[in-house]
Amino acid sequence: MMSSDLFNLDNHLQTLIQEAQKARLNSHSPYSGFKVGASVLMDDGNIYAGCNVENASYGGTVCAERVAVWKGLSEGAQKVLGLVVLTDSDPPWPPCGICRQVVSEFSSSQAPVVLINLQGSQIHKTLGELCPDFFGPVSLKSQ
Ligand code: THU
Repeated sequence: MMSSDLFNLDNHLQTLIQEAQKARLNSHSPYSGFKVGASVLMDDGNIYAGCNVENASYGGTVCAERVAVWKGLSEGAQKVLGLVVLTDSDPPWPPCGICRQVVSEFSSSQAPVVLINLQGSQIHKTLGELCPDFFGPVSLKSQ
């Protein structure tokens, strides 16, 4: 795969959506009933997908986006090139604040984020639009 292909999310969008759909089916969400699937294209050329995993403690719940990113990071990938989030919401909802923060640490502000729902509605954003001025490594060095 050419590296320029890797950065064009359109080349990967259908696969990213399919992987988010598959992951969403595994959502463990008995408390909220809100099933989420997410998938990320990472700089190793692989797609990693995740679902939300809830916990009876509630606080132990993890969002689909973070599961997907952590899967990739733990396999050695280092950067998120694009993110797809699939919910049954109309309009399709963006990631929660914690996930925006976490993804921002491993991505660039130009990274595309595609929000999609079961009806196929799509909203295209960049990470910078969803999470401007995030607290990152630079913030820690500026004191
Ligand atoms: N959830 C996600 O998986 N991603 C988000 O960005 C928002 C919320 C999950 C967490 C919880 O299992 C359920 O949706 C309701 O908040």
